[in-house]
Amino acid sequence: MGNMGIKFDFNNMMSDFIGDKGIKEDDIQALKGKIESAHKAMIEKRALGKMDWRDLPYNQNEIVEDIINYVNSVKDDFEAFVVLGIGGSALGPMAVQQAINSPYYNELPREKRNGFPKLYVMDNVDPEKLSYFFDMIDVTKCLFNCISKSGSTSETMSQFMIIKEMLSEKLSKEEAAKHIVCTTDKVNGNLIKIAKEEGYKTFIIPSGVGGRFSELTPVGLLPAAMCGIDIRKMLEGAAYMDEICKNDDIYKNPAYMYAVLSYIAMNKGRNIAVMMPYADSLKLISDWFAQLWAESLGKKFDNEHNEIFAGQTPVKALGVTDQHSQVQLYTEGPFDKMIVLLGVEKFRRTMDIPAIYGDIPSLGFLGGVTQNRLIQTEQMATEYALYKAGKMSLTITLPEVNEFTLGELLYMFEVATGFAGELLNINAFDQPGVEEGKNATYAMFGRPGYDEKKKELDARPEKKDKYIIK
Ligand code: PA5
Repeated sequence: MGNMGIKFDFNNMMSDFIGDKGIKEDDIQALKGKIESAHKAMIEKRALGKMDWRDLPYNQNEIVEDIINYVNSVKDDFEAFVVLGIGGSALGPMAVQQAINSPYYNELPREKRNGFPKLYVMDNVDPEKLSYFFDMIDVTKCLFNCISKSGSTSETMSQFMIIKEMLSEKLSKEEAAKHIVCTTDKVNGNLIKIAKEEGYKTFIIPSGVGGRFSELTPVGLLPAAMCGIDIRKMLEGAAYMDEICKNDDIYKNPAYMYAVLSYIAMNKGRNIAVMMPYADSLKLISDWFAQLWAESLGKKFDNEHNEIFAGQTPVKALGVTDQHSQVQLYTEGPFDKMIVLLGVEKFRRTMDIPAIYGDIPSLGFLGGVTQNRLIQTEQMATEYALYKAGKMSLTITLPEVNEFTLGELLYMFEVATGFAGELLNINAFDQPGVEEGKNATYAMFGRPGYDEKKKELDARPEKKDKYIIK
C-alpha cells in the first residue's frame, strides 16, 4: 500500500518538551481505568448498533454502486450539482470537494473537470446568496440534491421549496422531478414522503447515523462522486483507519490519543482547540471538525444528568495565513488553547520560486526554493514558536491529500470524538442545545404544535431600551 498512513505527533503536548504547562506521562497513566472503560464502551456500543457510523466503511457496496451508476447516468445532463443542506448535511461535502479537487474547480472548463458538473452548496438561508445564485445560473441546468436526515430542517426545506417552485414554473412535472435528488432518512420526516409522492430519486441516510457523522453515507458520497471523487478509496481509507482505531493501546491509536490528550488539556483549562491546516485544501476540514467536536462534546449534562457544562471550543485557522493574524495570540496569549497543526508531506503540485534578487538578502534566500518548502518550513517554525512559548500543540501529517488519506482523517476524528464523549461521560450523539433554537424558531413562526413553546418565549423579559444604543 506504500506510505498511506497519517502521522500523529504529540511531542509538543508533553511536559518533556513544553515544560510544566504540558501533559505528563503520569496524567495519562492516571486515566488508565477511564480509558479502559471508554474502550469497552466503544466496543459494546458498536456491537449493539449504537455507533452505526463505524460500519460505513464496510457495508455500503450496493449503495456505492447505486451512487456511481446514478452519477454516470445523469452527470452529462447538468451544468451544476447543487447541494441544499446544512450542518452535517453540508460541511462534509464542502470539505471533501475542497480537499480533493482544484480550488478553481467550478471555473475550469468541463473537460478539465473530467466531464463532471460544477458543485455549489447552499447551506445558509441568506436571501442574498440564493438570489444572487439565480442571477448566475439557469436552474433548469442544475441537479439539486436536497440533503436532510430529519427531512424537516427549516433552512434546507425552505431552499427546497423555492427551488421546487422555480422548477415547476419552468418545466413539466416529469421533467422537474429529474432535477431533484433527495438524501434523507428511510421513513422519518417530510422529505422522504415528498420524494416518494413526487417521484424523486432518493438515497438513504442510515437511521443510526447522525448528521455530523454522516459524511461517509450518501450525504457525502453522492456529491463527491458527482465531482469525480473516488468514493471507494475514501471508504478504503476509513476502513484502514478503523483497524488502527480498534487498538486498545492509546500509544498506537491516534484517535484515542487525540481524545485523551484533549480531555487532559480541557481539565488543565485548555478550553479552546485550534485547528490550523497548512494546506488550503484542508481549510474546510476545520469547519467540518468544528461542528463534530462542538456539537458532540458541548453538553450541559453528563450521562447521570449532573450539570457539567462540558466542551472545548473549536477555532478555525489556516496556515500560513493566520500566522499574520492569530498566531501572535496563540504564542503570547493565555494558556487556554491547544493547537492542532494539520500538515501535508507531499503536495500534489510544486511551485518553484525563481532565483532572482540574489543581491537582496531578505529576498535572495527564497530564490531557487519551492513554495512547498516555504509553507512546510513555516509550519515547523510555528510549531517551534509554540513550543518555545510553552503552548500545547500537536501535528497531524498526511502523506498527501487524496481520497484514501482523507477517509482516514475523517474517520480518525470521528472515533476521537466518540471516545472523547466516553471519557467525558456524555452523550456525544445528541444535540439538545440545537433543538432548543430550532423549536424557538418554529414557535416564533406560530407553527402548529408549538403553542407551549410560544408561551414560554412570550414570558421572557422585555428588552430594556437603556441597554440598546441607537
Ligand atoms: O449533526 C447534526 O445532527 C446537525 O448538525 C444536522 O446535521 C443539521 O442540523 C442538519 O440536519 P438535517 O440533516 O436533519 O437537515
